[in-house]
Amino acid sequence: MINLAILISGRGSNMDAILSAVKSGSIKNVNPALVISDKAGAEGLKIASEKYGVPVRIVPSNGAKGWEYDQRIVSLLSEQDITPQNGLVCLAGFMRIISPEFVRLYRMHMLNIHPSLLPSFPGLHAQRQAIEYGVKVSGCTVHFVDEGVDSGPIIIQRSVPVMEGDTEESLSARILEQEHIIYPEAVRLFAEGRLQVKGRVVSIHHLA
Ligand code: GRF
Repeated sequence: MINLAILISGRGSNMDAILSAVKSGSIKNVNPALVISDKAGAEGLKIASEKYGVPVRIVPSNGAKGWEYDQRIVSLLSEQDITPQNGLVCLAGFMRIISPEFVRLYRMHMLNIHPSLLPSFPGLHAQRQAIEYGVKVSGCTVHFVDEGVDSGPIIIQRSVPVMEGDTEESLSARILEQEHIIYPEAVRLFAEGRLQVKGRVVSIHHLA
């Protein structure tokens, strides 16, 4: 059984998609153990506790940065037995840079979703960057977290067209629909032990 933690800062729609897939049984072998937010007002907290009965914790930064902040998260994870061996940490709109210490501890046990086809448009406002650049196709990426920003080994990507007249909002909504498909799918593949990583290339081991 994989003990799952989801880290959020806001709306929590990707968290909702993952928890819904666990609840429906399409993701098996995963225990949703904890949702953590750095923002007390994150809408996702209510969804986690009221809709799914998952324990939630708020860890405000109060100015703490890097490992000083992250070690508070790590101690909550270990209290809930979400370890670097049996755990999976999913970043789902968690608006903080993860320190190298935290990354190293949970290496290949930490996933993130980003609203662009990486390595294009890492960082903030990926959808706005895509529109301003003038690309005709964008999308989303689920990847393992490494020490860089949105730079870890890519697990799944989905593309969407960028239409003439798209706004940041309309493109974000089109991408978000695909995020809700690929993030649960990546968690399922992880939980089934089907992700193999060589260098930065992830291959999906198909079941016979
Ligand atoms: C998503 O667009 C995700 O790709 C990005 O932040 C947004 C979070 O949305 N990292 P939500 O909180 O999951 O609704």
